Amino acid sequence: MSKTRILTGITTTGTPHLGNYVGAIRPAIAASRDANVESFYFLADYHALVKCDDPARVQRSTLEIAASWLAAGLDPEKVYFYRQSDIPEIPELTWLLTCVTAKGLLNRAHAYKAATDANRAVGEDADAGVTAGLYMYPVLMAADILIFNANKVPVGRDQVQHIEMARDIGQRFNHIYGCEYFALPAAAIEESVATLPGTDGRKMSKSYDNAIPLWLPEKELRKAILGIVTNSQAPGEPKNPDESNIFAIYQAFANVNETAAMRKAFADGIGWGDAKQKVFERVNAELAPMREKYDALIAKPGHIEEALQAGAKKARELARPFVARLREAVGLRDLRIKPQSIAPIGFDTAKVGKPALQPVVFRDAGAFAFKVVDAKKTVLAEKGGFADPKAAMAAAREAMAGLVNA
Ligand code: TRP
Repeated sequence: MSKTRILTGITTTGTPHLGNYVGAIRPAIAASRDANVESFYFLADYHALVKCDDPARVQRSTLEIAASWLAAGLDPEKVYFYRQSDIPEIPELTWLLTCVTAKGLLNRAHAYKAATDANRAVGEDADAGVTAGLYMYPVLMAADILIFNANKVPVGRDQVQHIEMARDIGQRFNHIYGCEYFALPAAAIEESVATLPGTDGRKMSKSYDNAIPLWLPEKELRKAILGIVTNSQAPGEPKNPDESNIFAIYQAFANVNETAAMRKAFADGIGWGDAKQKVFERVNAELAPMREKYDALIAKPGHIEEALQAGAKKARELARPFVARLREAVGLRDLRIKPQSIAPIGFDTAKVGKPALQPVVFRDAGAFAFKVVDAKKTVLAEKGGFADPKAAMAAAREAMAGLVNA
């Protein structure tokens, strides 16, 4: 059975905060240890350019986010961990997808609509200050996802529409070119993962200016936690844990027993100062060993650069042949290949591009075999006895090249 592919991107515009750790980094690393999944985590630095034109910031954020994932325990040997801009096949696919994407679909994207609505509200031209990058953002994101045929994309609610658009765009391409080139992705929203409240009680987010940076030195972490707002209940007064951001943060780091004990302490009227001190101690106990790794990684950017280069190499081994196949599908082809699928004028355009030949790899007598079939499923070549599916696929391609060039 093929493994489920989980993929997510992190835009490289900021410094990771506690909410990113609890809501994304920690659950993703846990999921990556499941033997039934293949994980793809990448630094979405092309997406960063849509929001940020400060080069130093994009670079620094890339370094910090990469170091954070590695310090938190991501094993780059076990997953695909790469930087988007190291995969030239992603912008290449973006163009192929752009050409099948309805402009109207992009007009309806929430981020673009919010920008144009805001302009209209103040009597400006709808597109004032809107770049084509913002407009195209969902297509680039679709390319990120479709290029690795990801099945599940863990994202926050604000990104669900983008995943739906990636499905639409992938489906459209499959339909036009008459073949299931792309798996259709689904958004995965982790209901069980806490959204961490920030220092003001609202969801922790860099846009609310209420975030606690993940790798603050110990003293500053303590100061930040002691600064979280609470109500004015006095020590000795019983407190409701379910309405407390202090409790919510504690719970995101504590085990079941620790959480139960804290619940009781709240009922017994623990003072806010003492509760915050306990939160600090618990959070710090988890982060301290990682912080040491993080500081060591940041001090050696060359190590991270090498890890990302190795990750890109591994990812491109999948992306390169796939995009080669897609180029061929749309007609960007070696001129020696017989143009079998070029439709005569008046041909049903929905069927144009149906691949003339297709390789099929299958298990056969304990080994792997391939067939090459045409659009009517007639078998044109067949051979067995391959040790692995890759070898069978390579032989199938060779046979196909022989057939089309014959
Ligand atoms: N747009 C996402 C965000 O802002 C980041 C991102 C880029 C992404 N490409 C992706 C997420 C592909 C999931 C899959 O959070």
